[in-house]
Parts: sequence; structure tokens; C-alpha cells
Amino acid sequence: MKRIAILTGGGDAPGLNAVIRAAVKTALFNYDCEILGVRNGLDGFLEEKGVYPLDTEMVRGILPRGGTILGAANRGNPFSRRVERDGKVVIEDHTQEIVEAIQTYNLDALIVAGGDGTLAMAERLFEHGIPVVGVPKTIDNDVGGTDFTFGFDTALNMAMDAIDRLHTTAEAHHRVMILELMGRDAGFIALTAGLAGGADVILIPEIPFEFRLICQKINNRIQRGTYFSIIAASEGAKPVGGEQRYARAGDEITIPRLGGIGQRVADALDENCGVETRVTVLGHLQRGGSPTAFDRQLATRYGSAAVRLAAAGKFGHMVALHGTEIVDISLADALKHPKHVDVNGDMVRTARALGISLGDE
Ligand code: F6P
Repeated sequence: MKRIAILTGGGDAPGLNAVIRAAVKTALFNYDCEILGVRNGLDGFLEEKGVYPLDTEMVRGILPRGGTILGAANRGNPFSRRVERDGKVVIEDHTQEIVEAIQTYNLDALIVAGGDGTLAMAERLFEHGIPVVGVPKTIDNDVGGTDFTFGFDTALNMAMDAIDRLHTTAEAHHRVMILELMGRDAGFIALTAGLAGGADVILIPEIPFEFRLICQKINNRIQRGTYFSIIAASEGAKPVGGEQRYARAGDEITIPRLGGIGQRVADALDENCGVETRVTVLGHLQRGGSPTAFDRQLATRYGSAAVRLAAAGKFGHMVALHGTEIVDISLADALKHPKHVDVNGDMVRTARALGISLGDE
């Protein structure tokens, strides 16, 4: 290996800098090869000075830092770019342009750290002959083929802390407090933080809920003399037969922005249950800040393993965590089945056993 490059794509997640640092150190100390950083996801290949050499000085001190020193892009996709031609908006495929731009750098490997969207782009590049190695990232923990993505644990701890804090006001004022959490299609953050923080109701995208049953749970608690309740809701949770709530519609390129389910549940409780309800949307606080120890070590192991994978010529694969071991799996296989909460799994069973309502019974 003479020269490799690394980029970070999609929304940021705590641990991206740890991946970059580990990849740089592993490449320089063990393979004596050049490692380039690509700014702003794949866009960097098309930007002037978008690709530049990384060294140990540049990654010093970044292990505890959130975000990514390389920048990330989660708007647009070079394979279907929205452009204006003769006053009309059209979608263009820029695959060839990107592939040719990457080829000018004579890379022996391109490490791509991203969620399912970015990894799908990586797989596409691989099909076009680019020697790609993937690193699974997302706070949602919904990338297939791996037990954990880095970023999830940090988001989870943030969410748990919020539930702890909401408990005090809920208890003092006899209120229902709803915490709306990230999780578009997978409810790992709400379910895990809900269990860890002791939520009374947990709403996740995998289990459609009924307003009536949430109300029933709150009333049961009141009848038993417990005048407060905590609800942890994924932004992607939806009622039986209903749709997800959006804060902003999408278009041909951008996916719609979820948001509002917390308020919707609060309105229903106000109307039908007669309990005072407040909503907190935790939002991007879940993505920010310093990674936890778990995320730092996982991201560090992923970054180092990605360079080893590149050296072994295992392209079109991504690093993954199976149990306690770092393994690799083909991107195509990983992307086939995005990960969801197992509705019959231990986490859900435990929640039910503890009397936590999932809004469905
Ligand atoms: O993919 C991670 C995620 O946190 C989703 O849960 C959420 O819907 C999305 O990012 C929001 O991203 P942004 O607001 O940056 O577009």
C-alpha cells in the first residue's frame, strides 16, 4: 500500500475523529504509506484542496472531540444530483465524474466512514472499481451486519441523562414528560435509553402504538398514586394505521425531516387523558459532544481494522463488531438488511416484563 484516503459522510456521530486518528496512526506506523483526508464526504474529490495529506500532528488531541475534522456531507448524493438545466430541475448521475476524480489520486484504498446512505454510495463506487473499505457509523445503530455502530452509545447516554433530568420535574409537578429522540426507522435509542432511564412508556418505529393505550397506562399509574410519567419516543414512532410525523417535507433528493410525534402524543394526552404534558425534543444534542469510552474504543478499533482490511485487499467490505470481535462483512450483505429492534427480542421482552408500555397493549 502506497497511498490510501479516508472520508466521513452523512450526519456526524461521536467517534468519527477517533476513526480518523486510528486510521492515520495505523497507516503511518505499520504500513509506512501515505494517508489522505477527503473533506466533506465525496464532495472533497471535486473540490479544490478537497484532498490533503494527514499526519500524526493533525490528529493529535482529536480522540475526545465530537464531529469530524474532515467535515461531512449529508445533503445530496453525487449519484443523483439535483441541478437546474434550462430553468428546469433535473436529477443527474455524476458517478463517472466522481469515479474519474477519485482515480486521479491513484489510491490503493478509500476508507469510507458512514451510515447506510454513505455506505451505499461506497458500495456503488466499489462496483465501479474503486477499492473501498467501509466503517459503519450512526447514532441510530441501524446499519446491518454489525452489533454496534459507533456514536450510538454516546447518544444513548445523552438520552438517558435527559430522562433522569426530566424525572425530577415530572415528579415535582405531577406531569407527563415526553422525550422525543432520534431514530428514523429503528428505535434503539428510545428503547435502550428508556430501559436505562426507567421510562414508563417507550414508543419506537417498529411497534405502532395506540393513543388510547398510552392514556390507559398513564391513568393506571395515577390510580396507583403515581402522578407522573415519562415517555421516551423515537421521532419515527407512529400510531397504528397512521404515518410518521414530519417537521419538513422532502423532495426528489432530500429525505423528509422527521419531527413532531412527541407533541402529537402530548396533544392526545391533554385532550383525552386530562394530564398536563410537556415535550422535550433532544435533537442534535444526541449527536454532539465527546464520545463515551465505549464509542472511543470501538471507533479506534474500527479505524485501525479498516486499514488492515485495506492492506489485505478486502475491498467492498466493511469492518463490523460481532460479539467482542472485530470482523468484516461485504457491504452488499450489510446493506441488504438494515437493522431494526427485534420486537420479540430480550430488550422488548424485558420492557414488557417491567410493566413498561410500548403503546400496543
Ligand atoms: O441518521 C442519524 C440521524 O440522527 C437520524 O436519526 C435523524 O433522523 C437524522 O440523523 C437527522 O439528521 P439531520 O438533522 O442532520 O439531517
